[in-house]
Amino acid sequence: MKIAVLVSGSGTNLQTIIDKLHNDTTSGIEIAVVISDRKKVYALNRAKQNGIPTKVVRAQDYEDRVAFDQAISLLIDEFAVELIVLAGFMKLFQSPFVKKYRNRIINIHPSILPAFPGATPVADSLAYGVKVTGVTVHFVDENVDTGPIIAQRVVPVNDTDTEEDLHDRIQIEEHNLYPKVIKLFAQGKIQVSGRMVSLSDSISDL
Ligand code: GAR
Repeated sequence: MKIAVLVSGSGTNLQTIIDKLHNDTTSGIEIAVVISDRKKVYALNRAKQNGIPTKVVRAQDYEDRVAFDQAISLLIDEFAVELIVLAGFMKLFQSPFVKKYRNRIINIHPSILPAFPGATPVADSLAYGVKVTGVTVHFVDENVDTGPIIAQRVVPVNDTDTEEDLHDRIQIEEHNLYPKVIKLFAQGKIQVSGRMVSLSDSISDL
C-alpha cells in the first residue's frame, strides 16, 4: 500500500514509519511521497536520506486554502496514495479535501482527545494540571482534532515535568503506536461506522 506522509517539522514520527514500515520489505507499505508545507524542515532530510520523493507545498504560494489543498490532492493522486498520514503536519484541510479522502486521512495528536485539541496540547495539558495525558490517532474530519478515534495511549504526567520532558515521553508512545495503526489500516483491519472505529486485531498484539 502506498502512503503519503505530511510533515511540518522535525519528523521523528516520519522516521519511525520509515524504519518500521517503509524499510521493512515484508510490511507491504511504501512511503510514495513526503509532503511538507515548509521548506528546510528536518523531516525532508530524513526522507531524502532514504530515497523517498519529497515535495514542498506552501500555503502562501496559493490564492486560498482550497487551492493549497488542491495542490496537495494532485500529488496524492499522482503518487497513487491510498492513505494520507499526517505526522506533525500543522495545517488544517478544508472540507472538499476531507470529503474526497474521507476515512483515508489519519492524524496523530499528543493528548487524549477530546481533551486539549489544537496547536499547543502539551503546554495546555501541563497548564491545566492533568495527571495523565497521552496520544490519540484519529481519522481527520472537517473540524480541529474531532475525527473518529482509532487508538489512544496514556502517559502519566510527573510533577516536575517540563513541556519538553512530557512531550519526549509522549513521543515514545507515538513512535510505538503510529506504525501499528498504519499496518492495521493496510491490512483492512480498521472499520469505521460514523464516529465508531473498530479494530479486527488488538494493537497490542502486533
Ligand atoms: C508530534 O508530537 C505530533 O503528535 C504533533 O506534532 C509532533 C510532531 O513531531 N502533532 C500535533 O500537535 C498535531 N496537532 P515529529 O515532527 O517529530 O513527528
